[in-house]
Amino acid sequence: MNKLKKVLGLLCCCALSMPAFAQTPKEHHIAIIPEPVSITQNEGEFVLPKYIVVSSPAGPEMKEAIAALKGISVPAGIHVSVSGNSPNATIRLILNKSADTVIGNEGYYLSSGKKGIVIRANKAAGLFYGVQTLLQLLPKEILSNKHVEGVTWEVPYVDITDYPRFKWRGLMFDVARHFFTKAEVEQYIDHMAKYKYNLLHLHLTDDEGWRIEIKSLPRLTTVGAYNVKKVGYFGNFPAPKPDEARNYGGFYTQDDIRELVAYAKGHFMDILPEIDVPGHSLAAVVAYPELSCTPGADHYQVRSGEQFMNFTKDGIKAGVDNTLCPANPKVYVFLDKVLTEVAKLFPFGYIHMGGDECAKNFWEKSDSVKALMQREGLKTQEEVQAYFEKKVEKIVESKGKKFLGWDEILEGGLAPDAIVMSWRGMKGGIQAAKMGHEVVMSPTDFAYLDYMQADPIVEPRVYATLRLSKAYKFDPVPDSVNSKLIIGGQANLWTEQVYNVRHLEYMTWPRAFAISEDLWSPKSKKNWDDFFGRVEKHFDRFNVAEIKYAPSVYDPIFTVHAMPDSTLQVTLETEVKGLDIHYSFDNSYPDSFYPKYTSSLLVPKEAFQLRVITYRDGKPVGRMLTITQEELKKRAFRRNYDDE
Ligand code: ACM
Repeated sequence: MNKLKKVLGLLCCCALSMPAFAQTPKEHHIAIIPEPVSITQNEGEFVLPKYIVVSSPAGPEMKEAIAALKGISVPAGIHVSVSGNSPNATIRLILNKSADTVIGNEGYYLSSGKKGIVIRANKAAGLFYGVQTLLQLLPKEILSNKHVEGVTWEVPYVDITDYPRFKWRGLMFDVARHFFTKAEVEQYIDHMAKYKYNLLHLHLTDDEGWRIEIKSLPRLTTVGAYNVKKVGYFGNFPAPKPDEARNYGGFYTQDDIRELVAYAKGHFMDILPEIDVPGHSLAAVVAYPELSCTPGADHYQVRSGEQFMNFTKDGIKAGVDNTLCPANPKVYVFLDKVLTEVAKLFPFGYIHMGGDECAKNFWEKSDSVKALMQREGLKTQEEVQAYFEKKVEKIVESKGKKFLGWDEILEGGLAPDAIVMSWRGMKGGIQAAKMGHEVVMSPTDFAYLDYMQADPIVEPRVYATLRLSKAYKFDPVPDSVNSKLIIGGQANLWTEQVYNVRHLEYMTWPRAFAISEDLWSPKSKKNWDDFFGRVEKHFDRFNVAEIKYAPSVYDPIFTVHAMPDSTLQVTLETEVKGLDIHYSFDNSYPDSFYPKYTSSLLVPKEAFQLRVITYRDGKPVGRMLTITQEELKKRAFRRNYDDE
C-alpha cells in the first residue's frame, strides 16, 4: 500500500467510526469471535425480563442450544422456560421451512429488537451457532457459575447474518503424549463449540501410548497405554529403570468413545480419529512386537519422554524401531482389525492414518524390507512407505471411510484417493490439490498450538514460536490452487509439554480465537486491531468462566544486534498497539516510573541483565521479562533462534 492510500484508509476509518459512536447513546462493545459475516447495530438494547420463554423446534438436536439458554438462569437469576413454536416467546429459535441459500447448513440470522430475540436457520447447527453468538452478546457475567448481582442482562439491538467460510474447522488434540480423561475432552469440546469449531481431531496413538480400546487386540491398551510418570522437559528424560512403575497414562474404553462421539455430535462436532502409522507406533510395537521388522523389539518399552528420535539432514533416525513393518503381512491383518473397530465407533466419514515422521533407518537394515523392495520394484524408502500407505488406504476404504494422512504420504507417490493434511507448511497441500486431492491445511507456520506464544525467557520451553498475530494471518487457501479442494483448516495441539488441563487451556487460547476467525469469518472482514480488541473482551469472559489463557501477546519481541564495537543493541516491538515498555539495566524491577522505551537500547557493557515490562494506561499488562546480557549476546550471534 502506498502512503497516500494508507492516509486515506485511516481517514475513512475515522469517518466511519465516528457516527457509529455518535448514534449510540449507550456504548455496547460488541465483541463476537469469530467475527460474523455481517452485523448491524441498532440503537437500543433488549433487557431480559425476569421470566423468559424460549421457543424452539422439538428434537434431540436442540438439546445443547436449549441447555445453553437455560444456563442463563444461574448467573442472571432469570427463570427460563421452553415452549414449542410461540410467536410471543422472548427468544425464538426458528427453522426455515424452505432452505435459505445464503446461510447454508451452519449459518443463521439473529435479530434482537424491542420484542426480543429471533434466531433463524436452515438446520439445527445454525440455531446452535446463533445461540453461541447470542451468549457472546450478553454481559460477560453470563459465564459465571454462580448468581451475579448488579448486572443488567441486556442484548444490544442487532441484525446479524452469519455463516462459515470453511466446512472443516478443526483443532487437533494429542491425547497420546499425555492422556486426558473423557471429562477433560468433553470440556475441551464445550470451549471449542463456543467458537464455532466443528471438528475435533483426536491423535489417539503414538510412541507414548495407545489410547483407544481395540477389543480384538487387548494388549494395545493393557500394555500400550502406560508408561513411567516423568515431569520436566519431555524429550530429555533419562531412560526409565526396569523397576520404575509403568502406571502413568490411560485409554478410552469403547463406551467412552461412543459417549465422546455423542457428546461432540450434540455440539455439532465430528471427531476425526487418528491412528498414527507406520511411524510413531512404539506403543503398538511394544504390545505386539511381531509387528516390527526388527529383532529384539520384544524388549522395547512404551516411551516415557526419553530422547530417541534424531531429526538429521539425512532423515529421521530413531534409536529404537518405532515403526510397523511394511513388509510384514501380519501388519495389514492388524490394521484391518483396528480399523474394523475404529470405523464402527466413529461415524465421521474420514479416518486419519498419520504417516508423519516415519524413521526409515531400521527399514534400511531389514532383510524383509529389502526383499519387498525387490519384489515390488521399490527404489527408495519413501516408495516403501507409499506402498504401505496404498495398502492402508484400501483397508480404510473397505470400511466405508475416506483415507487421510499427514503430508509425508505424498513422498513416494500419493495413494489414489488420499486426503492430505498439510503440516510442513502449505506446500504439501498445494502439491496435493494440484493433483486433484482434497486438502486440510494445518501448517506449523500458522497453526501449531504447541509452539511458544512469546519469548522463551518467559514461556514454557518448546522448540519454536507462534505468536497470536501470526496465527491470525492463517489463510488456508493459497492463491495458486482450486479453492474447492481446500476443505478447511485446523490448528494442532501436541502435548509433549502439556501435562494438565490448565496448561492445555493456556496453549489453546487466545490462538484458537484467531484460528476460529481464520476458518469461519470472511477474509475481507479480518482486521488485527479490531480482532485484538475483541480478544481482550474474551479474556474478560474467560476470567469469569475461570478458563486459562496466555497473556503472552502483551509481552514484547526482542531483536538483538551487535554494534561494530560489540556493544549490543536491543530493539523492542509489541504485537499490540498502545503499550508502553518500561525497562531497567540495574537489576531492579521496572514499573511505569522507569524509563520508557522509545528507540533501540544500547546495553551498557557492565550490565548483567535487561528487565522489561509493558504497561497500558498506567497498568501493567505484560509480564516482568528478564534477559541476561549473556543471552542477548548469544542471540546477536545466532541467526535463527528456532534453529538451535
Ligand atoms: C506432525 O506434526 N508430526 C504432524
